Amino acid sequence: MNITKPASTKDNLASDHEVVREFLDRAKTSAALGSQDQDSLIARIKNLLKAKNAKLVAHYYTDPSLQDLAEDTNGFVGDSLEMARFGKDTDAEILVVAGVRFMGETAKILSPTKKIIMPTLEATCSLDIACPADQFKKFCDAHPDRTVVVYANTSAAVKACSDWVVTSSIALEVVEHLSEIGEKIIWAPDKHLGSYIKKSTGADMLLWDAACIVHEEFKSRGIREMQKIYPSAAVLAHPESPEAVLEIADVVGSTTQIIKAAKNLPNNDIIVATDRGIFHKLQQIAPHKRFIVAPTAGNDATCRSCANCPWMSMNSLQAMIDCLAEGTNEIRVGKDLAQQAMVPLQKMLDFAADQQLKVRGKA
Ligand code: 13P
Ligand code: SF4
Repeated sequence: MNITKPASTKDNLASDHEVVREFLDRAKTSAALGSQDQDSLIARIKNLLKAKNAKLVAHYYTDPSLQDLAEDTNGFVGDSLEMARFGKDTDAEILVVAGVRFMGETAKILSPTKKIIMPTLEATCSLDIACPADQFKKFCDAHPDRTVVVYANTSAAVKACSDWVVTSSIALEVVEHLSEIGEKIIWAPDKHLGSYIKKSTGADMLLWDAACIVHEEFKSRGIREMQKIYPSAAVLAHPESPEAVLEIADVVGSTTQIIKAAKNLPNNDIIVATDRGIFHKLQQIAPHKRFIVAPTAGNDATCRSCANCPWMSMNSLQAMIDCLAEGTNEIRVGKDLAQQAMVPLQKMLDFAADQQLKVRGKA
């Protein structure tokens, strides 16, 4: 397999890097609230959103209270591609992005005139950390004949070095298209998603070496054991999971694709290999089904990242009030950088729109 580990980035590997641990130490989760406290915070946030002409956009991995709040206030809950689209299309003056930093940056790049704020600016992603722009640029410069495709889970500076940005919901289709027209590809940063695409499309891909600390912990052996307990269960996995997990999955897809599959599959038992925040939506769309968290290496009681992204968990109701009331935690991306990063992002949105038309038989 063609996994690239430039010597200079060897120490940046997501799962064992000091820096990731340092970031994790800062990822403080908030204490559980009583229902009265929670209701009063929610009421305050609703008032603030209205008063400030702001919309809340939340990822499926965030706390259920934030997901509900986004939907109750005509905001949006979705996967990273849909969040980007909603942010661009909405006419709100302020977007509050409940997710991780790259999602806020993407929103800012796509909507330069809107004010983008986040409950916390500390919420990052192990993939983003493990792909520093200066080192990535050197890597790209060493392979000038290759088209650079980067995952959305990267900084604005890395996006600015790329030809295409993709999210997990469209990565396969974009690479397939590029491969069909004879392009050789550099892929970064997620090695598992990269290997999966490479295997599925046969594309000529050089892979950066990084991983998601949450998905990397899912274990195929544990899932097989679980299948003995739930013999009729379907297995749904996010493509950031390791190859052995993807091989036994019935469906591999982005968070939205997992939700759609959970609804449409006939199985009543469903083993899910992604962040447990998604269970809120899964339970809503198929209340009669049983959803089971895929096993990870660690012990649920002590492990910080087992099926639970520590950075997504930093988005709390109190942090939301603080940033909305004060207008703090604003995402800023320099004008030139934003313009450069906009090009590959817009390509993805155009490609996605074109795919939709084809699916609907209009093109
Ligand atoms: P989606 O694009 O599927 O929402 O995934 C984003 C992500 O960070 C998964 O870990
Ligand atoms: Fe990044 Fe993984 Fe968290 Fe997604 S779940 S934001 S890929 S660390």
